[in-house]
Amino acid sequence: MSLDKKYIDIIANITSRAAISAMTYIGKKDKISADQAAVNSMRIELNKLNIDGKIVIGEGELDEAPMLYIGENLGTGKGISLDIAVDPLEGTNFVANNMPGGLSVISIAEKGNLFQAPETYMNKIAYGKNIPSEAIDLDFSVEKNIKNLADATNKNINSLTVCILDRPRHKDIINELKRLKVNIKLITDGDVSGALLVTDEKYNVDLFLGIGGGPEGVLAACALDAFDCKFQGRFIFKSDKDMVRANEMGISDFNKKYILNEIVKGDSIFCATGITSGDLVNGVILNDEKYVTETLATHKNSSLTKIIVKEDVIKP
Ligand code: FBP
Repeated sequence: MSLDKKYIDIIANITSRAAISAMTYIGKKDKISADQAAVNSMRIELNKLNIDGKIVIGEGELDEAPMLYIGENLGTGKGISLDIAVDPLEGTNFVANNMPGGLSVISIAEKGNLFQAPETYMNKIAYGKNIPSEAIDLDFSVEKNIKNLADATNKNINSLTVCILDRPRHKDIINELKRLKVNIKLITDGDVSGALLVTDEKYNVDLFLGIGGGPEGVLAACALDAFDCKFQGRFIFKSDKDMVRANEMGISDFNKKYILNEIVKGDSIFCATGITSGDLVNGVILNDEKYVTETLATHKNSSLTKIIVKEDVIKP
């Protein structure tokens, strides 16, 4: 079944309002308040909807986060049953430090169609729609993936670009990319955005890889699906607590590599509104008492991928 297209605008309004709420904290060096403002706004707006919604990817677990926690029910409970994945403020450092790339993000799918997972890390790989699925694999060596990517794209290895989070845990991968003379696009944060750079040649990124947040992986997978791009991810459960929680959520194989459509099934909608301007969208602008926002919106079943510009006069 398809999600009604009306939800594209409805969800874009919600990420838009959350972005406006977080805007107050741009450059204030206070990532907790920025996140809380976005969470509060998102929760209020989601609760107004005539939906029977449940958070499957959220701001922590019930015992850690007072709002938008995994398992929280949202909406009036009367309409369609939806799984909801949220990252009210993706890139808290970006907003706190007034750096490019802060986003407010939601994905929805029909009940049972979005992967539910505890907040853990995920090893991820994402690549473009024109590359055969079997050419790239999370379990191939960096060298094999790069050589296959060069063959599939008809490019020289030294003109390929790989996006990866700048973290000590990626030292070996980065050294290997350097050895192969691949161009490296290091990002300091924001790997939803990083993964989505494979969706369009204008970003000049051929492959995204590395370990980042699991929730961010599920959100990125929804948008990548609408762009017909490819994604694989493997959750990293380090502690016993992670494994117990994962098990309670139905995960029994802790080492499973998930392909995109095991993470998001059927139809889905994804909206990411810019808080600070970044590669994907511009940040919120206050123009004559009106807030202008840009949202990247995708809808799997109609293959819609577009930027929605909104004006909102409501003060946060
Ligand atoms: P926050 O918005 O929660 O700060 O997350 C930013 C982020 O960079 C994500 O995009 C990424 O998935 C994750 O943090 C990586 O985690 P870590 O900073 O622990 O490596």
